[in-house]
Amino acid sequence: MNDTVIQVADLSKRYRLGVIGTGTLSHDLNRWWAKVRGRPDPTLKVGQAAGGSSPSPVGGDRVPTSDYMWALKDVSFDVRRGQILGIIGRNGAGKSTLLKILSRVTAPSSGEVRVRGRIASLLEVGTGFHPELTGRENILLNGAILGMRKAEIARKFDEIVAFSDVETYIDTPVKRYSSGMYVRLAFAVAAHLEPEILLVDEVLAVGDMAFQRRCLGKMGAVAKEGRTVLFVSHNMAAVESLCSRGLLLEGGRPLAMGRTTDVLDAYFALVGTGGVQDLALREDRQGNGKLRFTSLGFRAGHNAGTGDVVQCGADLELVVGYRAAPNLKNVSMSIGVNALSGQVLFVLGNEMTGTAWETAPQAGCMSCQVRRLPLAPGQYPINLYCEVNGVLADWVQGAGSLTVEAGDFFGTGKLPPASHGGLLVDQQWGLHGA
Ligand SMILES: Nc1ncnc2c1ncn2[C@@H]1O[C@H](COP(=O)(O)OP(=O)(O)OP(=O)(O)O)[C@@H](O)[C@H]1O
Ligand SMILES: [Mg+2]
Repeated sequence: MNDTVIQVADLSKRYRLGVIGTGTLSHDLNRWWAKVRGRPDPTLKVGQAAGGSSPSPVGGDRVPTSDYMWALKDVSFDVRRGQILGIIGRNGAGKSTLLKILSRVTAPSSGEVRVRGRIASLLEVGTGFHPELTGRENILLNGAILGMRKAEIARKFDEIVAFSDVETYIDTPVKRYSSGMYVRLAFAVAAHLEPEILLVDEVLAVGDMAFQRRCLGKMGAVAKEGRTVLFVSHNMAAVESLCSRGLLLEGGRPLAMGRTTDVLDAYFALVGTGGVQDLALREDRQGNGKLRFTSLGFRAGHNAGTGDVVQCGADLELVVGYRAAPNLKNVSMSIGVNALSGQVLFVLGNEMTGTAWETAPQAGCMSCQVRRLPLAPGQYPINLYCEVNGVLADWVQGAGSLTVEAGDFFGTGKLPPASHGGLLVDQQWGLHGA
């Protein structure tokens, strides 16, 4: 029996520049509404561009040569029943676009998608929920949309409420929910209403640790029941533990597909594991440009690991190259160190620690030394942020990524498990009688 449940062939999606929204569902629905009312279709087919300027249908450069850009280009893959496919890639790689096409929120520009089975999707927060309706009404509505009978939904109702932990608020309109409650209920609905295919986009970024673990457990259970899960995440540890297969997107194209470990290796090679990142050509930056980062490098002192990898507890120097306009005043630099989930772990800053730079040479580098790096093994994306005279000059997110491997931080040879968070804290213990 052929148990392929999703078949994607030569899928491409082109967006018109200037209509980039927040990427939320409500925006997509607005666009759909515009279409229904006879407004211009934002999902025009290749070669059917309105307004004359012709897109570049070949080559697929993401550098827009006209008013269009490819969010996805020539993506083909199959997913079999019961598989959990992890979809990874940098910001803007096309992951959410792919899930939106699979769940028919948006249409492809070209290519083909075949899906066998009932899909439930949890795209960006709140998909499929009506803000004015209560939690209870939304559960019933979603069940009905999925084609379930009333009795079936009633059977699942208590499980959903228990999983989402929103019992007290179940008769409150969901617009009054916190984002955490909202996503808990949305995930519970999507996962429990017995879809044959479950699409999940980044839900883990919102919930707390306990909820994240419950979601991962539930997705695993869904797949064990022979259903299929597509899981988009920046949390590589979660992808590694949950997914049997991976798909790496880069600039809308599939860069690697196959065993999760191989695809994760490809991802880490792509985002760079330390070494020097060239930042001069990055376009996804903000600020007035009076100062611009050109590179980010790491130098490890004693106890360091080999090559680009740093050990926990090593002395580390972060070096940021830059170019600047003449006569800058009051340069304030921050380096943010994040978890793969996107959560900020800590921010290093020159001013905060009492080093003021009243001016800066036109080209040079700023360095920051961190003694005894307090990070558990893992991968840590770095953001760079600089203000000149109180105004944002340059801001590059994901400027590089620090790979930390096991080291003897506490002098005991022991380290906390990954579930205890990424930070290592110097500590002394005492035990005192009354
Ligand atoms: N509605 C839209 N209109 C125009 N461009 C869009 C729209 N939605 C997404 N894009 C663009 O398409 C590209 C792919 O976006 P997508 O949201 O799929 O990326 P992603 O991989 O999900 O990124 P992230 O990790 O940040 O969630 C981006 O360059 C984005 O700016
Ligand atoms: Mg996304």
